[in-house]
Order: sequence, then structure tokens, then C-alpha cells
Amino acid sequence: MYRINPTSTPAWKELESLSNELSNKHLVDIVSTHTRMSSYEASLKDFRLNYMRNHLDDSVLDAFERLFDQTKLAEAIEEQFSGEKINVTEGRAVLHTALRKNTSTPFLLDGENISKQIEGVLSQMEHFSNGIINGDHKGYSGKLFTDIVNIGIGGSDLGPLMVYEALNAYRKRGLKAHFVSNVDGSHLARTLQEINPETTLFIIASKTFTTQETMANAHSARKWFLDSGAKIEDVELHFAALSTNIPAAEDFGIHASKIFGFWDWVGGRYSVWSAIGLSLCCTLGYETFEKMLRGAEEMDHHFKETPFRENIPMVLAAIGIWYTNFMNYSSHAILPYDQNLSRLAAYLQQADMESNGKSVDRNGQKVDYSTGTIIWGEPGTNGQHAFYQLMHQGTPKITADFLASADTHYPLGNQHELLLANFLAQPQALMHGLTAEQVRLNMSREGKTAEKIDQLTPFRTFDGNRPSNILIYKLLDPHQLGRIIAMYEHKIFVQGWVWNIYSYDQWGVELGKKIANQVLDEMKNGPTPESDPITSKLIQDLFDLQS
Ligand code: F6P
Repeated sequence: MYRINPTSTPAWKELESLSNELSNKHLVDIVSTHTRMSSYEASLKDFRLNYMRNHLDDSVLDAFERLFDQTKLAEAIEEQFSGEKINVTEGRAVLHTALRKNTSTPFLLDGENISKQIEGVLSQMEHFSNGIINGDHKGYSGKLFTDIVNIGIGGSDLGPLMVYEALNAYRKRGLKAHFVSNVDGSHLARTLQEINPETTLFIIASKTFTTQETMANAHSARKWFLDSGAKIEDVELHFAALSTNIPAAEDFGIHASKIFGFWDWVGGRYSVWSAIGLSLCCTLGYETFEKMLRGAEEMDHHFKETPFRENIPMVLAAIGIWYTNFMNYSSHAILPYDQNLSRLAAYLQQADMESNGKSVDRNGQKVDYSTGTIIWGEPGTNGQHAFYQLMHQGTPKITADFLASADTHYPLGNQHELLLANFLAQPQALMHGLTAEQVRLNMSREGKTAEKIDQLTPFRTFDGNRPSNILIYKLLDPHQLGRIIAMYEHKIFVQGWVWNIYSYDQWGVELGKKIANQVLDEMKNGPTPESDPITSKLIQDLFDLQS
């Protein structure tokens, strides 16, 4: 595995000097020099990226091509896809891509044919979910299942939750999924108010089967189920587990036939393609899940086989690095003009920030350049009435992906047309802004007095010059969603690789978990000489407030 400091490459130096030139130019002027719009487009069939509205030109893109070359990206892609143990600090391969590969070709990892193992779990998922949907599997009182409660957190929650929302148009016979993640009891309690124990299947989703939040919720759910009048032997029918830790799932009391395994080479935040997708199969149908896998597989091929300028994930990665490392941007908004993608930003927060939120490089040295990106966002048009003000006129520098589909699953009046008009208008406004001259002219046409015009002009002027990427596609169907998720996964991989960090571990979340256990101990048994005095004081304050 190569461990190249990107700042030591000639391409990095080239990009530094290009950024000095381009950072002082207005986006409108940069774009006006582009002769062919098609040079700033990349597509995978009916999925298109337009990246015209960015502070870059051919020289920048050529330098990025050299940067990818000089940091040995092609070799890294090969290592990842072939199952090299690129997650070095955990000694693991990173093979979520194998989960969506055609399983008829054997794939050997440490001497085992993992295609066979993947196929085995997929067919277990297919069989089980078909049984739930067609009624072969019923609850203990003989009633059909109506509700599926997925109990998990992080990658064992955000992926299925996001996809369930995104593909809501594909729900089978009104089967409803609920996603309980927070250890805050209100999350589970509110869900339990909506369901009937006789018709509910609980899926305990946890790669490790040790996560505090998930285990607390799983135990409370089982207690609620038994308190409702079900017998201990009914647990077998109403509880399933998705985990790499089969013994722990069995210890919890889950029947072996209802444990769906996966493997340590599937990272939690990349696990939606694995057994973690069971709640999706049970509510949207296995065939929908399968179509999502095929869409992702298609993106995998596109990523591996397409030249840089037409390669959607690579271009997005380059643009992200450009703004982070050369133009001093630190935050990136995900703005789908699609209510069904309401959880996409939350999903990508984990995928991106847990992967690339690192400050030690692959040589174990502190980095002296920026890594990682703050990811956030909400669907349009809602965001327009909330945080877009800051995007248009605020001081923080923000980049954005705007996403929309040409067709809709929900043709109501002219609403899709209105949505698309807003989707197209916002990036245009962000780039062009509105000059003081235009503002003055507009106000004089409105009949405002000269005094009023002078007073209001500074506030109504927009600098523009704010970049964005546009992603459009025909329809948000399972295949397209698979492409979108895989696209972002590859973008994250490329960025982590170039930044010379390990994208597939997450040591940063461990410290908080460990301290939470120590604090819990202190809350039960009182402080020790090692206790943090501020935490001890706050514990006392909370106890004082408790009734
Ligand atoms: O937040 C840390 C983390 O380990 C994530 O990476 C993971 O997705 C989540 O916790 C849940 O872990 P598990 O699936 O093992 O319960």
C-alpha cells in the first residue's frame, strides 16, 4: 500500500499555484471562459453530473488527473476491489463492493469463497422477507405482520432508514418500517405506542451486537413484547438479528434461523448492502433491494472503468479536495430536491465524516493539511426557507450538491414543475448573485425613492460566486438510488486515499463510549479520584434536579 503525502507531489504544487489565480476570479467570469459545456459533464447513462459552476478550468482538472496518478489512485482502487487488507489499523479488507457483485463468479478472500457466503445470506433474506410479505410467516397469534421495527444505530440504522424513506413508493401491502436508534427511551417508547406486538417483527441490527444503545433498546423491546402477554417461545417468531457476532445474537435468545450474518470486511457505514438491509427486503420486497444492488454494481464499474473527466465519483472527489485544500472551504451541503431523500444528508454525514474525519496519515504522522468535510443538508425547497440565507449572503464558504429527478412518483398538480424550477433557480442565483447596479435598477422600477434605494442597496446585493454541483436522473427508483449511494462511497474513498488517511476505521468514536461507561459507574457509585470535577459537578446538578 502506498503512503504518499499528497502535498509532496508536483501536482499539489501546481494546484496551489492555480488556486492563487482562480480564487480571485468570480465564478461568472470563470464559467464564461469555458467554451464547451459538455467538458464539464459526466454521466452514467441517464444519471448526469453537471460541474460547470465551479472555480475550475481545464488546467485544474488536468492537475487533478496528475495528482490521482502521483498518489497512485488506480493502484488503490485495485487493492480495495480485490480484497487487500486496506483497513490496516483493524487488519481488515474493505469489500462492501463484493456484496453487490454478481455472485456467480467465485471471490476468494483468505482462502474462502465469499461469493458463496454472500449468496447464502441473500437467499436467506429473500426467503424470509417473501414469507413476511406473502404471509407464510405470521405472528404468534396467527395474524399477518404489519410492522417491522429495526433496532440499530449508526450504520445499522442510517442506511436502511434513508433507503426506506427514499423508496417509499415501493412499499408492499402497507408494511411499515420503524427505525429505533437513540438510547433515549422516548425513541422506542413512541414507536411502541404505534404498534401491536402480535403483528410486529423486531430486527436487532448490530454488527458487533454489543453497542450500548442497541442492546438497551433490544432488551426493552423484548420486555415490552413479553409484558404484552406473549410467551417466551413467541420471541423466536418475532425477533431477528443482523450481525457478525452470531453467538451474542443467540445468547439474546434469537433463533439460529433468524440470524442473518455478515462479515468483518463490511464496515458499519457501508453495510446497507448486507444483511443490514433486511428491514428493506421485508417492507419494499427483496426484488427492490436486489435492484438497488445492481444500481450500485453499475456505479462500481463506472468508477473503475471510466476516464477521470467523465467519472462521476472521481470528479466529485476532485472538486471536494479542490475546495477543501486549495480554496479554504470546509463545509458541503447535500440538497436533494426530493422529500424522499430527506435522510440522505444524515446518512452521508456518517459515511463521510466517520470515514474521513482523521488527522493522522497512513504513516502515523499528524497531517499538516485539511482532511474531512463537514456534511449537512436538508431537502429543497424546505432548506430555502431555513439556511439558504447563509448560503447566499453569509460569510462561511459552502459548496453544495443539488440533486433532482426529471420524473416523479407523485404527480400532483404542477408541483413537480415547481420543485424543478426551484432546483434550477437556486444554483443559478448562488453563482450570479445580484449586483448593486441591478438592485438599484430594480428598486427604481418599483418606484422607490432615491433615499430608500441608497439605504437598501447594500442589504439587497448578492455577491454570487458560490459554487455547486448538479446531479440529475430520470427517477428515484431502486437502481438509481443504488448508483447514488455507491457514487458517494467512491467519492469518500478517493478523498481519503488522496489525503493519505485510513478511511475505514473509526477510533475517534471509542473514547466517548469508554467515558460514558465510566460516567455511568460514577452515577451509580459516586466519584473516584480520577473523576473529572466538571462532570462530577454536573452529575450532582442533575441529581438535584431529579424528582
Ligand atoms: O459509531 C460507531 C459505530 O461503530 C459505527 O461505525 C457503527 O455503524 C455503529 O457504531 C453501530 O455499530 P453496531 O452495528 O456494531 O451496533
